[in-house]
Amino acid sequence: MRRIPLLSSVIDVGCGLLKDAGARIRELEPRAKKAFLLTDRNCARYARTVRSGLQAAGMEVEILAIAPGESQKKPASAARIYDRLARAGIERQSAFVAVGGGVVTDLGAFAASTWMRGIPLFLVPTTLLAQVDAAIGGKTGVNLPQGKNLVGTFYQPLGVFCDPEVFRTLPAREYVGGLGEVVKYGVIRDAELFPFLEKNIEAIRERKPDTLEEIVFRCASIKADVVSKDEKESGLRAILNYGHTIGHGLEAAGGYRKLHHGEAVSVGMEAAAVIAMDMGLTPLETLAAQNRLLKLCGLPTRVKGLPPRKVLEAMRLDKKNSDGRFRFVLPEAVGRVRFGVEVPAELVVSGLRAVSV
Ligand code: GLY
Repeated sequence: MRRIPLLSSVIDVGCGLLKDAGARIRELEPRAKKAFLLTDRNCARYARTVRSGLQAAGMEVEILAIAPGESQKKPASAARIYDRLARAGIERQSAFVAVGGGVVTDLGAFAASTWMRGIPLFLVPTTLLAQVDAAIGGKTGVNLPQGKNLVGTFYQPLGVFCDPEVFRTLPAREYVGGLGEVVKYGVIRDAELFPFLEKNIEAIRERKPDTLEEIVFRCASIKADVVSKDEKESGLRAILNYGHTIGHGLEAAGGYRKLHHGEAVSVGMEAAAVIAMDMGLTPLETLAAQNRLLKLCGLPTRVKGLPPRKVLEAMRLDKKNSDGRFRFVLPEAVGRVRFGVEVPAELVVSGLRAVSV
């Protein structure tokens, strides 16, 4: 097991960690007599393991399993959680434990951060995407019909427990999608991750826990380092959005059904590298190396049936581009990016054309 510090929290990464989560929570919050465990129905078996650990550590556990899916990330779900927290007598020193993917960790963290103005929070992410991204960084949120994550807080959990053995049961598309965020970390900060991923591609395909532990550790360490330097996103933290400016546009233009988040980020990174090349910021080798690795991972670099103009319109509605300008994170080389680069709409469209079939 390896521990990554992040502001007031710790991120533990290790195979088999799930069954120790209860003891670790007890260690980090010795006063907690009760724990509230939020999960979704797809993660029931992992939630049961965590519940047994909490009970073995002497805590009384109240469990709520919501339906799976992004549609649950809404204020009404938070209200339902508050109702259960009240009925279960969850108070300031109780532990709030979220076991699941990004929806459960974002929603759970939001509820925990607002219940009694914030109670001790612990996250047990069960997807690759959540272990390397969603569960780390302290942003919590729920969606409104007007946009994603429009209501939220910054709230660091006390502990995040990442056990790569849980990827065994992830649906293939969801697992591969998570690799999109992994490749992102290589481009923004860790050039050595590229040869590591290429060399271990078979182990990655076979979901070998040791290899995945190394990957999660490296990616989570990068995110923790970036967030600890810029928690509230006033500068550097923007590099974590590499591939997301276009990625979010693709997701929205596809009605959030066509592409999974990681797939959209993958195509978004390809388009961003094309734009960087067109602007003379990076050589063809960067685009080629990224394209090769994305394909090796089984990720898409092209999208069908989403006209560039439609994607551009969706991008204009994104709150990050609300002043009508598009600011990008663009690669200079594998391992190094520039952020806050203003890109004219015509270049965005030609980047989108390059990834459209
Ligand atoms: N919860 C994700 C982040 O803080 O970036």
